[in-house]
Amino acid sequence: MKNIVLFASGNGSNVQQITEYFRGSKEVNVACVVVNRKNIYVIERAKNLGLECYYFNREDFYNSDKVLNLLKEKQADYIILAGFLWLVPKNILSEYERKIINIHPALLPKYGGKGMYGHNVHEAVIENKEQESGITIHFVNQEYDKGDIIFQAKCEITQQDNAESLAEKIHILEKEYFPKIIERVITNKI
Ligand code: GAR
Repeated sequence: MKNIVLFASGNGSNVQQITEYFRGSKEVNVACVVVNRKNIYVIERAKNLGLECYYFNREDFYNSDKVLNLLKEKQADYIILAGFLWLVPKNILSEYERKIINIHPALLPKYGGKGMYGHNVHEAVIENKEQESGITIHFVNQEYDKGDIIFQAKCEITQQDNAESLAEKIHILEKEYFPKIIERVITNKI
């Protein structure tokens, strides 16, 4: 059994989908959720899902071993960034090389980097009149959205689409693929 810890900063729909997908799994156990903001909906979701949720502030993340110690205590094998918007600190990166997986709501390397997250991404894609977008699942390194790509899936953008409808299409792709790709990486099928 491999333990995964989910990092999140917002709504938490990916946290919910991943947790529901692995419920009853013999291979993957969701150990807990780590958040970096208070008053975000993912905290409520974690509670409803029966998951422990831990809050850490910037100081805890970047100037202490508190998060790393929690990961060790939970015997975390993998970290999943499920809508987590900070860079992963160096102390965690060095212990979890190629064991941290992020999902990005666009086709990297386009529309990545600092400030490119969530709705900002969809607005930029629509603004540039792209004809397609999609999701990128990738390993995490010290730079925003730069680690090796594991998987991408695309969706079409029509003239009727706006940032909201594109977000909905992306959300469908995330739901369909993110848990499955996590499972394949963890069970060495990718
Ligand atoms: C997701 O669309 C995810 O791809 C994106 O944030 C959203 C979180 O939604 N991640 C990034 O933009 C990372 N750069 P959720 O909180 O409902 O899972």
